[in-house]
This record gives sequence, C-alpha cells and structure tokens, in this order.
Amino acid sequence: MEKTLVIFKPSAIERALVGQIITRFQQKGLVIAGLKMMQLDEALLREHYAHLVDRDFFPLLLNSMMATPVIVMCLKGKDAIKVVRLMTGATNGRDALPGTIRGDFSMSGQENIVHASSSPEDAVAELSRFFKPEEIFDWDCNDKRYINSPDEL
Ligand code: TYD
Repeated sequence: MEKTLVIFKPSAIERALVGQIITRFQQKGLVIAGLKMMQLDEALLREHYAHLVDRDFFPLLLNSMMATPVIVMCLKGKDAIKVVRLMTGATNGRDALPGTIRGDFSMSGQENIVHASSSPEDAVAELSRFFKPEEIFDWDCNDKRYINSPDEL
C-alpha cells in the first residue's frame, strides 16, 4: 500500500478545519499511519519547497507556513498519493473544483489549507523529512473487505 504526506497548514489550524478534513480522508478509506504537530522552521521549508526558493512569493510562503504549528499526517492506501492529490485539488483555491479540499475551503493561492505529496519520489522524501521511522505505524484495518477488492490488496 502506498503512503503519502499531508500537512495541515496554518490556514487549516487557524480556521479549525483539521477535524473535518481528517474525516474526509477517513471516510474515503485512507488509513492514518502517522500524525503529529510540529513547528516548521526556515531550514526545513527551504528543503521542502526547494523548487520555489527563487520565486518572488517565497518570503510570504515562509511566513505563512511558520505562522502557527502545523499538523503532519501520513496516509496509507491503494494509490494513496494520487487519491490524496485529487481530493486536495488545484494549488489555487479559486481554481480548485468544488468538492476538493481547496475548492471547498480556500479562496487563496497561498492560504490553501493542505499540502499533499505530488509523486511517489516526493512522498518518500517528504515522509522521511517530517517523520522519524518509528513515528510511522505499519498497522492496517482488520477488515478491508469493503474498502478494496481482493485483487487490489
Ligand atoms: P506548489 O508545489 O507549486 O503547489 P502544490 O502545493 O499544489 O503542490 O506550491 C507550493 C505552495 O507554494 C502552494 O501550495 C502555495 C505556494 N504558492 C504560492 O503562494 N504562490 C504561487 O504562485 C504558487 C505556485 C505556490
């Protein structure tokens, strides 16, 4: 089963949206394999957003991501990386489709509620950036019969 990283950004924390977004992921059939709160710092964000450090908006992005502690979560499931990105929606909340997290909760390109890993390579790198190995749990639902068919497991 694939694992992916979700970050509840300060916009989700300030607007008290964490619970209902976790509920969406759980209702979908994704399993929580790790969850914790942490304060991000500039060094970690420069690594995480290395592809954006030269962009004009990067100082604003740094401030936005350090404004409050964040909650990081590892989700597990069949094709979890793709599924979570689809549920997250387009980067800019004003372009994100209704029904997606950003489409339902964000009016902003920056204050867009959650981060989600965008590829298998990114997911592996990001999970090891934000979690120690022992903070990710290899448990699974005891009864997955109504989440996946036998040939999907
Ligand atoms: P990016 O990795 O392009 O998108 P995504 O979060 O959908 O994977 O951008 C990372 C974050 O940088 C994005 O969630 C919000 C911020 N950002 C801006 O503030 N302005 C921008 O124009 C872009 C492209 C991103």
